[in-house]
This record gives sequence, structure tokens and C-alpha cells, in this order.
Amino acid sequence: MSMKSFEELEYRNKTVFVRVDYNVPLDAAGKVTDDKRLRASLPTIQPILAAGGKVVLASHLGRPKKKIVKEFSLSQVVSRLSELLERPVLFAGDCIGEQVERKKLELRSGSVLLLENLRFHAGEEGNDPDFSRQLAANIDVYINEAFSASHRAHASVVGVPGLVPVKGYGATFKKEITYLLHALEKPERPFFAVIGGAKVSDKILMLERLLSKVDGLIIGGAMAFTLLRSQGVPTGDSLVEEDRLDVAAQLLAKAKELGIPVHLPIDHIVRSTAGGEIETTPGQSIPAGTAALDIGPRTLEFFRGLLGTAGTVFWNGPMGKFEEPEFKAGTFGIAETLAGLKACTIAGGGDSASALKKSGFAAKITHVSTGGGASLELIEGGTLPGIQALEN
Ligand code: 3PG
Repeated sequence: MSMKSFEELEYRNKTVFVRVDYNVPLDAAGKVTDDKRLRASLPTIQPILAAGGKVVLASHLGRPKKKIVKEFSLSQVVSRLSELLERPVLFAGDCIGEQVERKKLELRSGSVLLLENLRFHAGEEGNDPDFSRQLAANIDVYINEAFSASHRAHASVVGVPGLVPVKGYGATFKKEITYLLHALEKPERPFFAVIGGAKVSDKILMLERLLSKVDGLIIGGAMAFTLLRSQGVPTGDSLVEEDRLDVAAQLLAKAKELGIPVHLPIDHIVRSTAGGEIETTPGQSIPAGTAALDIGPRTLEFFRGLLGTAGTVFWNGPMGKFEEPEFKAGTFGIAETLAGLKACTIAGGGDSASALKKSGFAAKITHVSTGGGASLELIEGGTLPGIQALEN
């Protein structure tokens, strides 16, 4: 990797543009309801301030569709951020323009200026060169601490680092790429991927890429029904992507050609469509008039056995409809299994992170990615626009 970590750079009296991801949830009164992303940026910001840097923070918030929308103003995060940093945070009412430049030039060592939402300007999502030039004005160092936005080829992710000669990545970014690229490039073997979720079509690129990396694929969730049906297994009223049966069959054929086993559920928890009764199927077939909503207990034991031998596990997507208590056993069982392994365990994607949190096992996982879309795109493509911009 030719990229530099923020720890390797000089900050004394330098103005440092830190691209953060403060896309945080807010309540109706504009109060931050989950400050995880603010906290995650502190290990990058604090050392820069301590080394005498002047920090200019830039982020998007929500999807304001290229215009000013009050509910998406970053002014709402100022007070919480200032409490966490234990110092005042100055706010610029815009992210570009004369007044912003004046505020940047007036900054003193150890002070922090938060810019207004980048997405209030069309230039951010359009990666407009002039907008990037304005963001990069009076900036000495660029740091990307927004891994979770680094799959977006936006001005603050790819344009600005192209204009600032000294650049690097922040602490969370570092942790994310270390674990995700490690899983892809040099996993301890055997390497298993546990993939779930509703649709094969959403994850086909990821599944194809993983086939060339893993020693085995373990598949649960509704996507397993499309794969089973493509092999002629009855799936009752379960969710099946009828128009993707050929894609599913091709994936299984490719896995066979490569000699990579794809492990599918061998039993299921089903609910009858008419009466709502819940039962466990004796085998892989799903009876007519029922829909499967979780993997069954024999499948969980089977998957547990496979994972017990693993050196590395990547998990993305739930095994069933875990939001309903009757169908959480499979997903929570996988969370518990991963938590008990000595292997390097990596979870990516919002649903797996939320299942880990709800099941109480998140702390026992080697790395729970905060990247959402970015971590999946990194697994799919092996790089991201934000990574490439730091390498150039
Ligand atoms: C996220 O919350 O996943 C990131 O901030 C990216 O947001 P976006 O999907 O609106 O680009």
C-alpha cells in the first residue's frame, strides 16, 4: 500500500482538511441520537490538534439533493462534537466561499472549524473540479477519515486529495482497510464467508468475488431459497427471485468448477401462509403453503461445525427475519458461534452489525465494519475511489 497513515505526517501550524463521516441520526429537535461516528473520528482529530494542526472538518449529512435543507445542517452536531473534543468547535455557515476562507485563515493551532454540509452544493456529488479547488484552498494536508463514504467518487473523497500534495488516511479508515483487505488478500485458512440477506441479486458481485478467495461459502437468509430453487428444491411460499434463477444456477456451477463448496440450509423454520403456525421442516424442501423465515436447528449445527475449523470468517447478512423473535435463532446463533471462535472474525454490512449489537456479541468479534456500502464495495472490487485517490 503506497498510502500514508495520518500518524506519519507533520501538522505543526498546518491547516488540515479532515473528511469525516458525520452522517449521524438526529431527532426532531436536531439532537444527535447516536454519536458513534463523532466518537470514531476523535482518535484522528485529537493527535492532529495535539501536534499543532488547525483542523477543518468536512462531511455530508443525509441526502439533501444538492440544495440547502435546514434539517440536514451540520450545525446540529457542533455542540455534541465540542463536548467530545473538550474544546470549542467553530462553525462555517457554508463549505466554500470568501467567508469560509477567512475563517480557515484565522484558525490558530489546536482549533477546529466544521464546514457546512458538503452536499448542499451540486459540486460535491458531481465531483466538480472548481468545487474541489475551493474546498482545497488554503489547505496543507488532506486526511480521509470517512471510510464509510469512500465508495462515493465525490469531490471531498477524490477531488480534494488530487489537489493537496500531502495526504493520508485516518484511524478508522486504517482499521477498516486493514481488516477487510487482510480478509481478501492474506486470510488465515480455512477462510469461510457466511452470507445472508434477502436477495442474491444485491450480492452477486460480492459472491462471485468471494468465490475466488474463500475455502467455502455458507449461505442463509432468503437468498438461499433462490439458490435452492435453481437446483430444483421446492421452496413453498418463501421469498424467491424468480427472475434470478439463472444467475443463481450459474453461481453454483462456477463454484463447482472452482471446487469451492457452497453450503446451503438443510432444514428451515417455516410459517404457514394461511394459519401462521410455525414449525421446523424435516429436510431441505420447504412444504407448499409455508414460507421459510430462518435456518433450522440442524443447519445451525452444521454451520457451527464448519466454522469451528475456520482461520478467518467474513459475515455479511442475516440468516433469517431476526427482527421477529421466532426467527432470530439462526442469526443470533451465527453471532454466538463467531464470538466463540479463535479465528479472525469480520462482520460487514448494516444488518449484521445490528444483529451483533442486538445479540450482545459485537464486542467478541475481531472487527465489525462501520462501512456499510463501502465495506461491501471494497469486498466486491478490491478497492474504492477514496482509496485510489490516496494512492495516486
Ligand atoms: C453512510 O451513512 O452509509 C455513508 O455516510 C454514505 O452515505 P450515502 O449512502 O448517502 O452516500
